[in-house]
Amino acid sequence: MKGFGAQQKSKKKSNKKTKLSKEQIINQAIQFHSQGNIQEAAKYYQYCINQGFNDPKVFSNYGIILQNLGKSQEAEISYRKAIELKPDFANAHSNLGNILRDLGKLQDAELSYRKAIEVKPDFANAHSNLGVLLTDLGKSQEAEISYRKAIEIKPDYGDAHYNLGNILRDLGKLKEAFDCYLKAIDINPKLSIIYGSITRFLKNSDLSQLNKLKLKNILNILLERNDVSHNKLFKTFNFLYRNELIYYLEKLDSDFSNTNLLVNKKVIINALKKITIKDIRLEKLLTNTRKYLCNKITKNKEEISYSELQLIIALGEQCFLNEYVYYLTEEEKATLKIIIKRCQDNELSESNISILSCYCPLYKLLDQIPSLTSFNSSDQSFKELIELQITEPLKEIELSKNIKKLGSIKDDISQKVKSQYEENPYPRWRYGSHQTNQKISIIQAINNDINPNYIRQNIDNNQLKVLIAGCGTGQHILDTQRYKNTQITGIDLSVSSLSYAQRKINELGIDNVELIQMDILEVGLLKERFDIIESSGVLHHMNDPLKGLQALLSVLKSNGFLILGLYSELARQNIIEARNYINSKKLQANEDNIRNFRQKVISGELNNLNSLKNGGDFYSLSECRDLCFHAQEHRFTINQLAETLKSNELKFLGFLLPKPVKSLYKQYFPEDKKQINLQNWAKFEEKYPNTFAGMYQFWVSKGE
Ligand SMILES: C[S@@+](CC[C@H](N)C(=O)[O-])C[C@H]1O[C@@H](n2cnc3c(N)ncnc32)[C@H](O)[C@@H]1O
Repeated sequence: MKGFGAQQKSKKKSNKKTKLSKEQIINQAIQFHSQGNIQEAAKYYQYCINQGFNDPKVFSNYGIILQNLGKSQEAEISYRKAIELKPDFANAHSNLGNILRDLGKLQDAELSYRKAIEVKPDFANAHSNLGVLLTDLGKSQEAEISYRKAIEIKPDYGDAHYNLGNILRDLGKLKEAFDCYLKAIDINPKLSIIYGSITRFLKNSDLSQLNKLKLKNILNILLERNDVSHNKLFKTFNFLYRNELIYYLEKLDSDFSNTNLLVNKKVIINALKKITIKDIRLEKLLTNTRKYLCNKITKNKEEISYSELQLIIALGEQCFLNEYVYYLTEEEKATLKIIIKRCQDNELSESNISILSCYCPLYKLLDQIPSLTSFNSSDQSFKELIELQITEPLKEIELSKNIKKLGSIKDDISQKVKSQYEENPYPRWRYGSHQTNQKISIIQAINNDINPNYIRQNIDNNQLKVLIAGCGTGQHILDTQRYKNTQITGIDLSVSSLSYAQRKINELGIDNVELIQMDILEVGLLKERFDIIESSGVLHHMNDPLKGLQALLSVLKSNGFLILGLYSELARQNIIEARNYINSKKLQANEDNIRNFRQKVISGELNNLNSLKNGGDFYSLSECRDLCFHAQEHRFTINQLAETLKSNELKFLGFLLPKPVKSLYKQYFPEDKKQINLQNWAKFEEKYPNTFAGMYQFWVSKGE
């Protein structure tokens, strides 16, 4: 590369390029870097290094760029060079700590952070980084001290408050953790990672320990955002508003003039639009409300008020979310026909359309009522309903035409499973959180999952190839966005699931994913090998899960990692009973049968299946189908898992489980420091059979 000349402007004045000084070039590089112009910054830093400018800032900053590009080894060299040039360069020590942590060299990373703090005791960033590292090492109390120190030095350090929140959560100090999260939001509302974290925190916490007013405020905020997974907020919503909603809905039973009371509660209306309601009492009341409103519109005695219309729209969105799982009477079916007929006779109105949306997604009515697409309304909520129920599904149909296909789906079970997920893509979701910044290395992500075990870097850290086998509707893809520097391939049998995923990916601007319709059995057709393979809730739906596993292993690099999610035999005893009932009655998996089955469980007729009501998957059609009516389901014991791993030369790295479960395990098996002894886990599961109610989810690696 030639020397850097002066800018264009000076060219006009004279043809001679003014040579920039060494300092100017370095400053220019740093300026590009701080402006986010990484390409130019990298070019300048490289130039400085090639020119032999032995400036520690250059090496340290260039290391950051290399690290973000996933070039960990090169980044480490660059940081070490910076330190060699300036042994008391605190930033470089701290940056070196970050890369060593990324590489899984946790003890070395700790030393680097401590060195950074030694040379610069008031270095808040290093204290906070050390806290993160100590958390990885399971030294929670020490981590807490580090975060508190960082905050003492820099009280408005949003990240440190957030990290402190995480550690306090893990230590079971829920109230304090909650306050830390809120403080972090207060300081830096743009810290997007926190909204997803606080949503998960609320899902897993005992809410009675938290301040109700603060809970209401944050729920409000989260429901207004479109970057969190609102379904995780059901528990919070129910805790705060269940009684109020029951009160309003019961009031409606006697007098619809009270609708405005309910509609004025924006948080409740937002929740109806975004959170699948998973509560029998509320479901019954909402089902009744729908019936009364339908009846009222059909009789057309009085005009529908603005408030009633808003309630119907919210109900329409709720029913779309739960895929019309609510029970409906023959009378309602007859009244719906009347409303459809009216619409066909040009009596299209917001109320007629909205009430139909409570019983069937509107796009499915386009054949019967083609004029639906041209109906105009100035009502914002109504427009959003049309977007949700017509525009988006049509977009998916359009996208489905361009989803790449590979091979053929020949296996009998694969065909049945495909048709299930074509009819009911799983799961239906509206919004979710995905990390656009603060991405972490895959090794770091695995280490977070398998803690207290940890692995060291053994994969090439340039762009990593990730395969999501059975990616469904894309929620799983969102989770993998936390990884730095990856190219993701998602495969699935169901083109409607893939189109759903594609629409969401497009909306979110995610550009590192390719989706392909194909059977796992033919994964070799991808003609690629992957560093990471993820398959959650999939292999147990194959005719022969072992064949599926071996197909996946055939495309996993020899130093790659695999994460699996598989059903537990012990945790699914109630599901086995439900499946036995469904088989004995020869119930086909269609919408009416699923609704009727649910109705029997809800009414208590099948009271041996009462526990189904406690599981979240009971409350939407695709989930209930997946739960009880699946075309194929295998379940496993931990001993079977152990044998399968052994015979396929896979090394067990650890389960994904909430911290309190791992702490409990530690009490029983303190000698199993890494928590990877499957025989112990089998004993633990016997004692706590619900431990893996959400599947066995675990990482393995090939070989040693
Ligand atoms: C229960 S869903 C899980 C989806 C996703 N992993 C998640 O966690 O959200 C199972 C998915 O696996 C897909 N699947 C099942 N068997 C498959 C096979 N043989 N090949 C490819 N995909 C398969 C289904 O089509 C379905 O979308």
